[in-house]
Amino acid sequence: MSLAIISPGRNPQVWIDALIFHQPDIDIQIYPDIKRPEDVEMALLWQHPPGYLDTFPNLKLISSLGAGVDHILSDPAVPASMPIVRIVDEKLTWSMTNYVVMGVLNFHRQITRYQADQKRKVWDMSNPEIPVKVGVMGVGALGGDVLDKLNYLGFPVFGFGFTKKDDFPYPYFSKDHLQDFLNEINVLVCLLPLTPETESILDLKFFKKCQTGTYLINVARGKHLVEEDLIPALNQGFLSGAMLDVYRQEPLPDTHPFWEEERIQITPHIASVTNPRAASPQIIENFRRLRSNQPLLNLVDRKKGY
Ligand code: GLV
Repeated sequence: MSLAIISPGRNPQVWIDALIFHQPDIDIQIYPDIKRPEDVEMALLWQHPPGYLDTFPNLKLISSLGAGVDHILSDPAVPASMPIVRIVDEKLTWSMTNYVVMGVLNFHRQITRYQADQKRKVWDMSNPEIPVKVGVMGVGALGGDVLDKLNYLGFPVFGFGFTKKDDFPYPYFSKDHLQDFLNEINVLVCLLPLTPETESILDLKFFKKCQTGTYLINVARGKHLVEEDLIPALNQGFLSGAMLDVYRQEPLPDTHPFWEEERIQITPHIASVTNPRAASPQIIENFRRLRSNQPLLNLVDRKKGY
């Protein structure tokens, strides 16, 4: 029984080392050099070639190599009955929260403004703190931690999601109350899973509903944002700035207007990168559970798509 790693264009060695460190006798096969496809019962995927899983007649479980599973679910060849698990990991959560906190503080304490002032030798003590109320769209493992830490830092926080939630520790708005949610906040964090319902949610129509000058932080997926609507939303004042870690096309093409836009801070999909050492134990545990027919960890709800 073997585990296949299929992550084209990325060096799989760190994953091999981490998995072997935790289970020295593990049988791993690496794409594209898979010699015994019939032995593969679990596949670890990051942006696999669509349709490729048909190579494995005995595949029983798919694991994402990250938190998101949109790259798996977008392949129509993945059978509807195939269980899919994803990575939920403290280190991944910690990194994501730190990134979002950086974005919120950047807006609140205006580091970009002071960097520009320094260049021009300007001493301007006016308005040193922008009052901030943060809304987090997507309140799962990542969004929940972001809310907790920002709340601890003393920021008013608000959650938004597609499902109703009782007993949520912070004010929470479900999808029919989007306008009420946006009325409360001036920093918007997107941590939604990418599903047909959430794709392209951040468009001009949406930004028009925001309080004037809202600051956007998108750390979820590039496809949440209608990219051609962002600069118009900034120009029309619905948004005052944005911090983006994800894009429709990655790497961001040289010709993309975001590179040149001062009001947009760009990072190259590094907000939270899965750490193989930290994530391997749960992959191995799921491999073990698969063999002993036990409930899997971090199982994706195929109906919800995350
Ligand atoms: C990264 O984008 C992930 O899904 O883990």
